[in-house]
Amino acid sequence: MDEPVWVFGYGSLIWRVDFDHVDVQPAWITGWQRRFWQGSVDHRGQPNAPGRVVTIVPQEGAICHGLAYRLPTDSMQTISELDHRERGGYDRVSLPIATETGTLEGLTYIANPSNSNYLGPAQPAQLAKQIAGATGPSGPNVEYLLRLDQSLTELGHPDEHVRAIVEALDTL
Ligand code: SIN
Repeated sequence: MDEPVWVFGYGSLIWRVDFDHVDVQPAWITGWQRRFWQGSVDHRGQPNAPGRVVTIVPQEGAICHGLAYRLPTDSMQTISELDHRERGGYDRVSLPIATETGTLEGLTYIANPSNSNYLGPAQPAQLAKQIAGATGPSGPNVEYLLRLDQSLTELGHPDEHVRAIVEALDTL
């Protein structure tokens, strides 16, 4: 029998769940941190005013919390829809995902520095300013930031980096 396919979501895949799944569990990956270092020209920004969305970057000792989704048995269709959704610079990779019932091997989407939309590090104030000024076909970039912040808080794992940008937004 085929092994179940799991996908780990750490960004919009936590709060915009428009794909088929048959189970969802709190999950985390170690050695990675969430950062608003990826540019978005197709969802939360435009080519002349890119938005900022999250990717994960390696960081020793870090833990990135999110959700693990088990896909339906016929997972190929869902994977291809997710590939399409994440096509703005994300690679689909396999990595160990920890859950309360054990560790499993799953898929996640990572935007590496080599992709053409990658923007890299910036101070929270600069990130907040860029996010406040960006909007794209999926909606305002601010919505992405605030919904991610709220979801992580509801999961019991507010993220310091995300919180710092929300706080900077309040002072603009
Ligand atoms: C994810 O949510 O896991 C990937 C990044 C995103 O689509 O926001």
